[in-house]
Amino acid sequence: MAEVVLFRNRDLPGYTGSLADYERQEGYAALRLMFKQYPPAELIELVKRANLRGRGGAGFPTGMKWSFLPKERTVTYLCCNADESEPGTFKDRELMTVDPHQMIEGIVIASYAIGAHAAYIYMRGEFASEAVIVARAVQEAYKAGYLGKNILGSGFDLELTLHRGAGAYICGEETALLESIEGKRGLPRSKPPFPATHGLYGKPTVINNVETLASLPHILRRGAEWYASIGSPPKSPGTRIFSVSGHVKRPGNYEVPMGITFRQLIFDLAGGMKSDRPLKAFIPGGASASFFTPDHLDVKMDFDEVAKAGSMLGSGGVTVMDDSVCMVWAAANLLRFFHHESCGKCTPCREGSNWLLRVLRRIEHGQGRLTDLDLLPQVCGNIAGRTVCAFGDAETAPVVSTLRHFRAEYEAHITRKECVMGHARPPVDAATAHPISFAGH
Ligand SMILES: Cc1cc2nc3c(=O)[nH]c(=O)nc-3n(C[C@H](O)[C@H](O)[C@H](O)COP(=O)(O)O)c2cc1C
Repeated sequence: MAEVVLFRNRDLPGYTGSLADYERQEGYAALRLMFKQYPPAELIELVKRANLRGRGGAGFPTGMKWSFLPKERTVTYLCCNADESEPGTFKDRELMTVDPHQMIEGIVIASYAIGAHAAYIYMRGEFASEAVIVARAVQEAYKAGYLGKNILGSGFDLELTLHRGAGAYICGEETALLESIEGKRGLPRSKPPFPATHGLYGKPTVINNVETLASLPHILRRGAEWYASIGSPPKSPGTRIFSVSGHVKRPGNYEVPMGITFRQLIFDLAGGMKSDRPLKAFIPGGASASFFTPDHLDVKMDFDEVAKAGSMLGSGGVTVMDDSVCMVWAAANLLRFFHHESCGKCTPCREGSNWLLRVLRRIEHGQGRLTDLDLLPQVCGNIAGRTVCAFGDAETAPVVSTLRHFRAEYEAHITRKECVMGHARPPVDAATAHPISFAGH
């Protein structure tokens, strides 16, 4: 398999991720090179030439995002998005724990490029042990002069703060993240204005994902042309870490060049199907991405090819399901998550997620009606594109795509009360669609 970049230290015997270990593997060499050779404007050009695209979900070109900052500005902030709450996605978690200094070096590089003297790592609240590891690494970096005043004698100052969330999925959305750092309830902001002009505390701000930032030291050390030539050039260069979970023999994080196929990832790297049951469906890019079927196994894993095939690479979480999984159950399970996590700001998402869940549950439990199969897409149509943030689109993806690919399964639930998962489904309450468990309980 091709070269590993971001995880190159992960499997070194005895590698602990300490500053000393990182430095032994050329850690912070990119930073020294940067201060010697690159004025900020040239650094932005370098990242543009490398065509690095954001690894947080949308795949937005990083250099272009940086150049949206207004020319005249007094204060600029950088936020590293380490919220990673998308179900099935666990790559940032491993990046931060295995090699925290790689992310910190990336943060210093990005801050220097955009002229930020204050940066934040916004970390998912549930990451308790990860927070300890990152906090320790930040302290080490301060002590060694990679953070703080006059970094490596360059005259550049940067204060880096680790800010922990409190367990809300929505705080991974960039503007909800900003609200949360400001000490407010994490609700997304209406855009425009965009964070590039009105971000943290109303000042120009860049928000980048952990993996995006961790890629920067490599691009600096090895050059834009090298990066632009690996993976799936010209539009999706570089390597990417995919988190593979579900019914595979070897679940885990795999760093691969962009552009390999889902078949290679699932069958060659992740060992194929656990228990050797046939593949039924997979989610190609986190819970917000539309389901794929075995017909999509040869789709290339690059941003544009996956979009062309009707889904998205999103957060890089690939969840694999064999034929024991009921697709109505899978959609309802995801909607349970989205309904629980809807922040409530926008009516279509707040109310719609509740209705989607109720209708899915009654179908799942054998109490659905055939008209529900028209009702579901209608409700989805009233959510997607009608909310302040992309959460609304995300919550409709499992419903629309399972209906598209597995309509017969929905019909079997409604007309014949059949489910591939076989086990008896207790009836649900007609009004709430909550399962009625035992009488009197
Ligand atoms: C509901 C929602 C949740 C999100 N969660 C995350 C997250 O956990 N981590 C992340 O990096 N981006 C997340 N994003 C995307 C961010 O809003 C933002 O686009 C990203 O951090 C930008 O970084 P990038 O340009 O490096 O990809 C989320 C978006 C939405 C709509």
